[in-house]
Amino acid sequence: TVETLTQNESQQFLIIGHRGASGYAPEHTLESYQLATEMGADYLEIDLQQTKDGELIAMHDESLERTTNGKGLVKSYTLKELQQLDAGSWFNEKFPNKAHENYIGLTVPTLREVFERFGTSVNYYIETKSPDDYKHMEQKLLKLVDEYQLVDNTSNNKVIIQSFSQKSLEAVHEICPDIPLIQLVQYNENAIISQERITEIKKYAIGIGVNYKSVTESFAQQVRQAGLELHPYTVNSEDEILDLIDIGATGIFTDYIDIVPSEYKL
Ligand code: G3P
Ligand code: CA
Repeated sequence: TVETLTQNESQQFLIIGHRGASGYAPEHTLESYQLATEMGADYLEIDLQQTKDGELIAMHDESLERTTNGKGLVKSYTLKELQQLDAGSWFNEKFPNKAHENYIGLTVPTLREVFERFGTSVNYYIETKSPDDYKHMEQKLLKLVDEYQLVDNTSNNKVIIQSFSQKSLEAVHEICPDIPLIQLVQYNENAIISQERITEIKKYAIGIGVNYKSVTESFAQQVRQAGLELHPYTVNSEDEILDLIDIGATGIFTDYIDIVPSEYKL
């Protein structure tokens, strides 16, 4: 029944701070991640890009224009060059009512910096972005995860890895089968998935991430019935969060962690 498919009370509903607390602070900055933890996010969502000299950094876009004062592709610059950029002032200009002087001059963090800052005090929900464009992104990510002791084969795992690229997730799974993986899937309209695809995803992943606008009740049921987690993105209204929980979502990505009703917070 639908009832048995909805969120089990004993199971934790995951609140994933999308790009940190990006509704309130410049996305993918340490300030944004700090705020997300203070607001009660269970996971910090981190998108990965890679510099010319092979460093993993936290940034959504492949190019610098939207979230920094730089121009061009991330992969054309060394880390040292990227660290000269201002990754916060754009937010103040775009959202004057949320502007804060602390955001001026914030830098683009490396993944190492994020792990160094938060260690094992938080959970990380990391996306390999454009993994075909970057050499060894998965290996570099896993090396850092290992160095900071964020994953073991107990329930203390601090990391989930997500990607639209099945190849990237399979590469992670092959190296480190203990890390829970989420297959992101994209639909132009309503989400429809075959049982064959579900069976394939279950071989390496624990769940599916999908734009909440494509999620239908029957899709949610099918995913949950198969024993997969369902994490819709990016849900920025309380009513929509509650509707998704009703049909079986087991977590959501949001820019506004504070809108999640308190009974779903730990
Ligand atoms: O990772 C879930 C969601 O963030 C995927 O979309 O474009 O915001 O990375 P995007
Ligand atoms: Ca993402």
